[in-house]
Amino acid sequence: MKKWHKFLLFAFLCCGVTAVDGVARAQNSMNAQNAPSAQNHQINHTPDQLEQMVRQDCGSCHGLTFKGGLGAPLLPENLRDYSVADLTTIILEGLPGTAMPPWQAIISAKDASWMARYLKNGESN
Ligand code: HEC
Repeated sequence: MKKWHKFLLFAFLCCGVTAVDGVARAQNSMNAQNAPSAQNHQINHTPDQLEQMVRQDCGSCHGLTFKGGLGAPLLPENLRDYSVADLTTIILEGLPGTAMPPWQAIISAKDASWMARYLKNGESN
């Protein structure tokens, strides 16, 4: 084999390996990005989205001013005995035997804890 042939072969192998490696890495990082949402269908919402959800979705049962409706009132004084963790669990799992539905299929634990703090701090007023 002539010298420059060897060089070409070397260059080809190097580039080929690098390219394949690059594609594999790109695929890995894409999988890593998709994995969480594909696994649990939970999306972290922005504070604006969560505020709208609390007011509209929760408000439809708990009253638009959270003074109660079909569901119990959700004003800070009504929630004093619950910790943020208690409320987060209620929101994620619902209250079996009542009309309070579980929300874990559409919001993340982080979202639920944001809502719990929002309600306890009276930011809905
Ligand atoms: C379909 C109607 C409905 C919707 C929508 C709903 N709830 Fe409820 N919720 C209820 C009912 C009914 C109860 C039980 C009330 C009772 O104990 O009498 C309840 C109970 C609760 C409680 C416990 C209150 C207490 O004093 O024990 C919390 C906290 C709560 N809901 C938060 C939420 C949040 C936050 C949302 C929105 C993400 C929401 N709920 C959406 C109907 C609803």
